[in-house]
Amino acid sequence: MRSPFLPVSFACALLLSANASAQDYPASNKTITFVLPYAAGGPTDKAARDLAQAMSKAMGGHSIVIDNSAGASGSIGANKVAKASADGYTLLFTHIAQATLPTFFRNLPYNVERDFEYIGLVSENPMNLIGRPSLPANNMVELVSWINANKGKINIANAGPGSASHLCGMLFQSTIKVDMTSVPYKGTAPAMTDLIGGQVDLMCDQSTTTIPQIEGKKVKSFAVTTPTRLSSPVLKDNPTMQEAGLKDFSVTIWQGLYAPKGTPAPVLKKLNDALKVAVKDPDFIRKQDAGGASVINDARNDPAGHKAFVLAEVAKWAPVIKSAGVYAD
Ligand code: MLT
Repeated sequence: MRSPFLPVSFACALLLSANASAQDYPASNKTITFVLPYAAGGPTDKAARDLAQAMSKAMGGHSIVIDNSAGASGSIGANKVAKASADGYTLLFTHIAQATLPTFFRNLPYNVERDFEYIGLVSENPMNLIGRPSLPANNMVELVSWINANKGKINIANAGPGSASHLCGMLFQSTIKVDMTSVPYKGTAPAMTDLIGGQVDLMCDQSTTTIPQIEGKKVKSFAVTTPTRLSSPVLKDNPTMQEAGLKDFSVTIWQGLYAPKGTPAPVLKKLNDALKVAVKDPDFIRKQDAGGASVINDARNDPAGHKAFVLAEVAKWAPVIKSAGVYAD
């Protein structure tokens, strides 16, 4: 006959092993994976790799790898983490899509409020409007007049509905009141290849990956999306969208780290501690700065501040997306 005490002792053993694994976290033989829901080589990938390096350093050299699970505007990777073991070894690194996909997708297979633990935000990234090198326009005035003269023929690349590039491109089209053909990719890295090759006309992307292409004269840059100009030598002469006459136009992207819901508190604390060391790491700060991004150093580095900010962003973007009537499903 089974011992009536077995279930209790079994539960105790489970509890002990959960505590022990949280205590030993991160185990030396177990790699931490940042799931990155966009293609390798894009701005989110770059930010994730910079953070992985700085957090690894903060965790005594513990191995952190990137898994590019791209597709469906970033929802494939996010869903993978929402459904992963809550043990601190599979984390999601993503951007503003965490706040926009819940409205862009009416049937998102995860819930951003309930299915994740929030670890902290790390950076804010400006975007800028770039064009293929063969585009006849050389500044915003010429660009807007070229767009108006070619209505119905212009296409604009992005990383799928709800991605940062899509959001920025959508705002640009609604502000100048011209519809363009949207060309979605699994990330802006493959889109950039096609823009450089002249297969697409325009794209809005984060300055962290546009700057090297502008420097190399591979693409033309027209304007930045922030309310003030950027100090980067190649972008300082670019007007803001507002200076170019696009009233109230302002888009800034933020990047953050998430764990599956139920990840033990001691594990979350170790991850948050490492993230807070990483955002003060001079090498991490220098890399973000070189790409025009700002490292976040405020209450949003903490789980509660991070979650409150993201939920406020969900509420901010929902009416904008609904009024545009653009959905991903
Ligand atoms: C975006 O547009 O959402 C990003 O650039 C995605 C990416 O990192 O490729």
